[in-house]
Amino acid sequence: MPPSSFEVQKTPQHVAIIMDGNGRWAAQRGLMRAAGHRKGVEAVREAIRSSIEIGIEYLTIFSFSSENWSRPKSEISDLMGLLKLFIRKDLADLHRENVRVNIIGERSDLPGDIGPLLEEAEILTANNSGLELIIAFNYGARNDIAQAVRSLANDVKCGKIDPSDIDCEMIGANLETAKFPDPDMIIRTSGEMRLSNFLLWEAAYSEFVFLDCHWPDFNREEFSKAISIYHSRDRRYGGLAQGTAS
Ligand code: IPE
Ligand code: IPE
Ligand code: MG
Repeated sequence: MPPSSFEVQKTPQHVAIIMDGNGRWAAQRGLMRAAGHRKGVEAVREAIRSSIEIGIEYLTIFSFSSENWSRPKSEISDLMGLLKLFIRKDLADLHRENVRVNIIGERSDLPGDIGPLLEEAEILTANNSGLELIIAFNYGARNDIAQAVRSLANDVKCGKIDPSDIDCEMIGANLETAKFPDPDMIIRTSGEMRLSNFLLWEAAYSEFVFLDCHWPDFNREEFSKAISIYHSRDRRYGGLAQGTAS
């Protein structure tokens, strides 16, 4: 039976975004890279607002990768400063908007008071029931898979499980993303077509949407464009297209 138009137009439940192109946005304007990162924070606010309006349930944003430490010290300190400013300035608004903040990524050894600030954001919003905002900070998917494997290996060593028990579900349940559904759509701005170590396991059946705009220019219109591209896709999960006669 062909799907109803409602099913075809279903809003993605979980959207994940690789927010790329802050540096190029700044360079095009003869500005310092930091100016691009600052403008990028405004685009984050816009993405959160739009997600709430559109009815997206989970929004994951890639804000700092485990590989981004290889950038110059001054840029790292700009990025850390902006994260702190974002939490200090926006946390109360997010809470008022009923947003629940979740952080994924390695927390140990974060500089200064970043660790406690991230924790404060999670604790304050823990009982909220609106948008689930997942901030991937100091995140690398390979690291997450490696820690899941270590944890399962320990369970085997302690005799809690047998190696033959390990299946995809068990691996997924040991990832930091275990409590979230897999992303329906992964958006990357700025034209690059790669995952850069983002959600490698979870992206198995995600729809990839690559937008040309640089992250600081991302807005409601770009979000709507991505969603209409998503709607034009036919998600098959290895099966046949919906409505295909047998
Ligand atoms: C995204 O923009 C922000 C982070 C990766 C933290 P970039 O800083 O990567 O900008 P480009 O890719 O150099 O233009
Ligand atoms: C990916 O962007 C990481 C974030 C958006 C936080 P990068 O700019 O670091 O990725 P590469 O280096 O171009 O692959
Ligand atoms: Mg980049």
